[in-house]
Amino acid sequence: MTLPADPLHPLWATPIGVHQWAEAADANALLARAFSGMRATDPNAKAGALFYASADNLLNRIQIPEWLSLVRFIVDGLRQTVVLANQGAWPTAAPGMRIGIEGIWFQIANGGVHHDVHTHGNCSWSGVYCVQVDPLPARESHPAFGLQNGITRFYGPHFNRLGGAHMDFGNAYMQQAHIDIEPIPGQLVIFPSWLPHQAMPYAGEQDRIIVSFNASIHSDTGTNQIQPYARS
Ligand SMILES: [Fe+2]
Repeated sequence: MTLPADPLHPLWATPIGVHQWAEAADANALLARAFSGMRATDPNAKAGALFYASADNLLNRIQIPEWLSLVRFIVDGLRQTVVLANQGAWPTAAPGMRIGIEGIWFQIANGGVHHDVHTHGNCSWSGVYCVQVDPLPARESHPAFGLQNGITRFYGPHFNRLGGAHMDFGNAYMQQAHIDIEPIPGQLVIFPSWLPHQAMPYAGEQDRIIVSFNASIHSDTGTNQIQPYARS
């Protein structure tokens, strides 16, 4: 490929979508109650544990209207983010597509529990929706965790390149190699599945409850392959 003459080509950006669910104020409390009920009746759940993750096959297992609405909101957010992220890469601006939810599950955490750095496999996009967490002032006033209490930290592609720790004025553009995204009830964050991230320790009055999911995206034309760029 021949790059056009240009003083700068800022290549390889990392697309992240952020969406706010308009129905969250009404639905989150009901979802939290439903999830707590499922946890209480799970024979494999450890009593008194600080962390619980459901099975990842909840897509059709929960039938309350709030869950069905949340799934619609998630699929809608995925569609928007994926279309925007692939502008210029897809042969047409918004081809027909099928979105497969490969897994969707909830997690309940408290007492300083964290989820170490990881990526998600067998999918192209992943996401996290926040159902419940302490409000900002209470969360950030935690004596040990402070501003990082319960946030999700994403590590961009530059992070590994900083292994040699050579930093000078010239590579300032890559020194902010991670981003912390606050948990806000009603907020959906959609990110590429390859993007390393971790849930920092959380402790609060209320449990931190999130819904996570993995998705695959398929073209309606029956092929997932985009024609490679013509070499010149
Ligand atoms: Fe994750």
